[in-house]
Amino acid sequence: MTSDAIRLDGKVAIITGGAGGIGAATARLMSARGASVAVADIAFDRAHALAAQLPEALAIALNLEDEASIAAMVAQTLDHFGRVDVLHNNAALLGPDIAQNDGDIEHMDTALWDRTYAVNVRGTMVACRAALPHLRASGGNIVNTVSNLALQGHMIQAAYSSSKAAIIQMTRAIAASHGPSGVRCNAVAPGMTATPALLAAFPAPLRQAVEDETLRDRLGEADDIAEAVAFLASPAARNITGQVLVSDGGCSSHVPGIARFRAFFSGEQA
Ligand SMILES: NC(=O)c1ccc[n+]([C@@H]2O[C@H](COP(=O)([O-])OP(=O)(O)OC[C@H]3O[C@@H](n4cnc5c(N)ncnc54)[C@H](O)[C@@H]3O)[C@@H](O)[C@H]2O)c1
Repeated sequence: MTSDAIRLDGKVAIITGGAGGIGAATARLMSARGASVAVADIAFDRAHALAAQLPEALAIALNLEDEASIAAMVAQTLDHFGRVDVLHNNAALLGPDIAQNDGDIEHMDTALWDRTYAVNVRGTMVACRAALPHLRASGGNIVNTVSNLALQGHMIQAAYSSSKAAIIQMTRAIAASHGPSGVRCNAVAPGMTATPALLAAFPAPLRQAVEDETLRDRLGEADDIAEAVAFLASPAARNITGQVLVSDGGCSSHVPGIARFRAFFSGEQA
């Protein structure tokens, strides 16, 4: 059953990293719910291919390390659609090479740290700054993609996880500053999600370790995260701002070690 309130008819949504796994799923879902979408990505060819499949969509070449490129993304969207209702900051610096080199702080490469913060934190800030006057005009909102790794400690990805934690605090700051003028700002925190980027960066045994801790029978998929984003972006979430919605199949909702407890009680392990 689809409530009218979660439809996005007449809305214009910018999706950064819109050519990627979760971004593309969100572009498709928002489009199916009635939105026009600006698919903005450094991978312009993939953004263009996706936009060509959607009824009202625009592909935009975006480099989040370049302030002018971010300003141009907002300007192109306004030129084409005449308004902006949703900014979905979904892009992040990812990839097998990044994940392998982003470990603990003692071994952190300063250049990798700076680049992670440039794309994830500064890029998100500049995009919000550029979009806010237009979101105020439309009564719109921002949905930032963060990560479960921003909420709990891990031995991997200290740069990535702390950059996502910074985005959570940015989310609350924007919500507090701009709520009174009608702009909401929320975040979605996916747990490990089976996108092509994730499958390339994490070997099967590590994926299995997380899957064992979920309260479903599988890892989340891009469509699962898209549903959470589209909900927060919609009028159905009109009373929600400054919040982090975790979509991780229940991974973070239980005491650690549940996989071994499950195995013990099912008699698989003494
Ligand atoms: N997949 C997961 O397990 C998982 C878990 C938690 C959070 N997330 C978050 O979800 C979001 C999407 O992840 P995904 O798995 O779909 O990965 P993805 O690599 O498919 O998507 C990221 C997109 O961002 C784009 N991008 C990268 N650098 C950019 C830049 N400088 N300028 C513009 N675009 C750029 C990439 O081209 C890509 O299309 C990210 O923010 C990620 O941190 C994913």
